[in-house]
Amino acid sequence: MKINGTAFRTIWPASDGAVEIIDQTRLPHEFTTVRLENMRDAEFAIREMQVRGAPLIGVTAAYGIALSMRHHATDAALQATCNMLRKSRPTAVNLSWAIERMRTFLLPLQVSERAQSAWQEAARIADEDVEINKAIGRHGLELIRDIHLRTKTTVNILTHCNAGWLATVDWGTALAPVYAAFEAGIPLQVWVDETRPRNQGASLTAWELAQHGVPHIVIVDNAGGHLMQHGLVDMVIVGTDRVTANGDVCNKIGTYLKALAAFDNGVPFYVAMPTPTLDWTLQDGVAEIPIEQRSQEEVTHLSGLCDDGQVRRVQLTPAGTFAANYAFDVTPARLVTALVTERGVVAANAGAILAQLKL
Ligand code: MRU
Repeated sequence: MKINGTAFRTIWPASDGAVEIIDQTRLPHEFTTVRLENMRDAEFAIREMQVRGAPLIGVTAAYGIALSMRHHATDAALQATCNMLRKSRPTAVNLSWAIERMRTFLLPLQVSERAQSAWQEAARIADEDVEINKAIGRHGLELIRDIHLRTKTTVNILTHCNAGWLATVDWGTALAPVYAAFEAGIPLQVWVDETRPRNQGASLTAWELAQHGVPHIVIVDNAGGHLMQHGLVDMVIVGTDRVTANGDVCNKIGTYLKALAAFDNGVPFYVAMPTPTLDWTLQDGVAEIPIEQRSQEEVTHLSGLCDDGQVRRVQLTPAGTFAANYAFDVTPARLVTALVTERGVVAANAGAILAQLKL
């Protein structure tokens, strides 16, 4: 996607053997890139959310392994690197998926071959992510087109968090259909949930939609139900960090409440799911998916651009107030209209998932 007219991915190999990323903690007020020189830099970038979004976390971990293999490529070093990266964030299954893919690819190779091969495999994972997202865009476009053909007016799409190109290598998952529909000339407008506490909607989704010229309006997280009751939302589409074999969907905290409101108002609720986000080992999402809990300061404090042009952090709560910070929740499959995957639109139930997505 383009930033001020220049095409960017969210992660790319630098010419001198490092890896570069866009520092998402600085957006939307500052566009800066960060160099990852070693595996610890990659682990830090994931943990501190310089990169975030399930697919991008996975690709960053793959490059982290490649960086590590340059210096230490023994079996023991590979295992230690994988263990460390795996712990950086617990919920998005793409992280362990990418780590496992790298590990099983590298283990049978000679130690001397591993550095170069790891680099190539990480690049393949990144390129595949782009292709997967383009395909999700094509399938999701048809859903948006159907709504437009029926209503003959602007399609109003609500999304939560950021599942756009910033959350992936390029294109995004939930926003890929939005970009495809926009390119196809379908009139649309995106309701962007601000997504407390880290405001990925207000900061990142709004920024990337603006860069692309897609009409959008930021709303507080609690506005979605009201908008749906008044017929102002034609569809909801969100990304996901992990989907169980039964179709339960884990995504950014607050997604479940949007799904409940959508169900109550007869609004279709779609989940854009690249197949690496499918966790075949789990059945019951609420019981089994590990939910990341992050620092309470993400809730008690907020940072933003002040009138004097400086970005500052401010405290919202009284001194000493405790906060809970659950980063994700699970939407049961019964509330999901369908999963939009690179292989087509799939009903969110065990039978359909098995029939359409098992290799
Ligand atoms: O905590 P984050 O910003 O990594 O959470 C991101 C999300 O919840 C996304 O919706 C999800 O990872 C899908 S990204 C294509």
